[in-house]
Amino acid sequence: MTVPEPRASAPESTDPVWSEEPTPVCPEDLSEGTWELLRAEAKRAMTKAYVPYSNFPVGAAGLVDDGRIVGGCNIENASFGVTLCAECSLLSELFMTGGGRLVAFDCVDGEGNTLVPCGRCRQLLFEHGGNDLVLNMPSGRAPMSVVLPEAFGPDHLAGAPSGHEAKH
Ligand code: THU
Repeated sequence: MTVPEPRASAPESTDPVWSEEPTPVCPEDLSEGTWELLRAEAKRAMTKAYVPYSNFPVGAAGLVDDGRIVGGCNIENASFGVTLCAECSLLSELFMTGGGRLVAFDCVDGEGNTLVPCGRCRQLLFEHGGNDLVLNMPSGRAPMSVVLPEAFGPDHLAGAPSGHEAKH
C-alpha cells in the first residue's frame, strides 16, 4: 500500500512516527512531538480558512491510525447556515487520502489557541474516531467518551429493520 507523505510540516528533528513508514499509533502512545505536529498542521490549515463573514478562522488537524495527519479549515458561505466547519474539510481530506480512523484531534482559532469543536463537529468526529479519539481541549486532553458522552452513533443503527449497519 502506498501511504501519502505526512501533511504536517515536521520540525527539523522529525518525530520517529513520521521519519519512516507510518506505523499504527494508539492513543496511549501519543507523544508530545506528535501533538506538536498536529498543532503545526492545525495552524497551517487555519491560514487557508475562507471567513469573510465571521472573520473567525479555524484550523483542525487529525492523526489517522496509519500515521497520516489530515487537516481542514472552515469555509463560510453567504448563506451562513451552510458554512463548513474546519472539521468538515478535515473529514474530506481523511476520505480523499485513504480513509481510516482518527486517533487524535487538535483545533485552533485565528490566534493559534486551542479551540473546542462545536457540538455538531463532535458528532462528526465521533463517527470516524469513536469513544477513544483523544481531543486536545482547552482544559486538557480527553477522550471522545468525555467530550461527547453517551454519543449516538453507527452502532445504534445496527439493529434497525432496514438493515443499516455500521460501515467503516
Ligand atoms: N467553526 C469551526 O470551523 N469549527 C467549530 O467547531 C466551531 C466553529 C467555525 C464556523 C464559522 O466559520 C466560525 O467558526 C464562526 O462560528
